[in-house]
Amino acid sequence: MKPTTAPKTYRVKSFGCQMNVYDGERMADMLDKRGIVPAPEGEEADLVVLNTCHIREKAAEKVYSDIGRLTKAGRKVGKEPLIAVAGCVAQAEGEEIMARSPAVSMVVGPQAYHRLPDMLDKAIQGERATDTDMPAIAKFAALPERTKRFPTAFLTVQEGCDKFCTYCVVPYTRGAEISRPFADLVKEAHRLAERGAREITLLGQNVNAWSGVDAKGDSCGLDGLIRELAKIPELQRIRYTTSHPNDFEKGLVRCHAEVEKLMPYLHLPVQSGSDRVLKAMNRSHTADSYLRLLEDMRAARPDIALSGDFIVGFPGETDAEFEETLALVDEVKYAQAFSFKYSPRPGTPAATMDGQVAKEVMDERLQRLQAALNRDQLAFNEGSVGKTCQVLVERKGKLPGQWLGKTPWLQSAWFEGDVAIGDLVEVELVDSGPNSLEARLAQ
Ligand code: 5AD
Ligand code: SF4
Repeated sequence: MKPTTAPKTYRVKSFGCQMNVYDGERMADMLDKRGIVPAPEGEEADLVVLNTCHIREKAAEKVYSDIGRLTKAGRKVGKEPLIAVAGCVAQAEGEEIMARSPAVSMVVGPQAYHRLPDMLDKAIQGERATDTDMPAIAKFAALPERTKRFPTAFLTVQEGCDKFCTYCVVPYTRGAEISRPFADLVKEAHRLAERGAREITLLGQNVNAWSGVDAKGDSCGLDGLIRELAKIPELQRIRYTTSHPNDFEKGLVRCHAEVEKLMPYLHLPVQSGSDRVLKAMNRSHTADSYLRLLEDMRAARPDIALSGDFIVGFPGETDAEFEETLALVDEVKYAQAFSFKYSPRPGTPAATMDGQVAKEVMDERLQRLQAALNRDQLAFNEGSVGKTCQVLVERKGKLPGQWLGKTPWLQSAWFEGDVAIGDLVEVELVDSGPNSLEARLAQ
């Protein structure tokens, strides 16, 4: 590669999960610190970071087509951008990307992106670099302080996964489970609150596997961390995602009953309602143990909104087993949920299992599942009409005078009134749709 001038503008494009959104923000923090500024909307950036997701198929093809589009657009304006590929595709296929795409000068994995500024120096000199090491804790210690002001913020507390569900690439791309130290997290949360965060969502691939040692030297779980963060006066709301049924301790259930700032919302993936499929997925919980957990949760916090993830068409899934998933959905009545067709991932055990399900069968199952989930989401929203609750104002709405925010149950609500971003306002929910609610400021 030829040496080039230092970039003045950047754009970070994050795909996939919220942990990628967090990583994208932290990469932006590092670039800001170097005096590089975000490219204005609609303009080509001098440096583009593609922060990729590898969870389902076509991820790599998408990266290559993005690279092609960026180089073409760059040529048009007379300067090709510096391109960094980050995230889980970088971790899984970094070498191939370097070999296939001469336009890419940096490949950096999710646990190594603190080294992005050094890699950038090299790229400016014309040197290409790949870094897919996995020392996650070193990364957090090397990141700059957070400076952006938002009423809501993500805080990664745990990374990696030791569960090895047979369909999933995460244990390979994000590495083993690690927990960030209690003191570092409390400090980062204080910093975020000082910078205007009123709501923090604690993130982790298995967030409820987080463990640490509190200020008194006692070991504690996610519940202990939540109780500590709830003491930060400016912080009004705490959420966490994504949990695993097997790491769910009673303490966390109790937290939902006792900590007012902990929002009544739980995202707890189940994937399937069939015990045979769950076993083949290596989920090590059953449909029944999952349902009992939700019962405990509802006993602790009767208004809790439930959310889940589902996969249809896992190898060997029969019609009858799929019906068990529908039956579970009918029983739980999710407020929101995410559902996917099984996608074989290279290197995972399920990819080579017998009984791969035909595409048409998967399509039909997904349609039926989504119809059921949409029905329940709509019913949940309709059931909220008439309630009075607090909404955290996040941004302006589409029309003048309109504001958008979230209810405690993570529904989007829009309303009019004399408010400011970051306010926590009391509203009455007056109308509902499948994806949002209309609200009125309470007098
Ligand atoms: N195919 C389809 N969906 C998948 N997920 C993870 N791996 C796969 C795969 N190979 C889904 C699971 C998980 C969510 C983040 O993505 O439902 O909970
Ligand atoms: Fe993937 Fe299973 Fe780990 Fe979730 S728990 S990240 S689905 S291996």
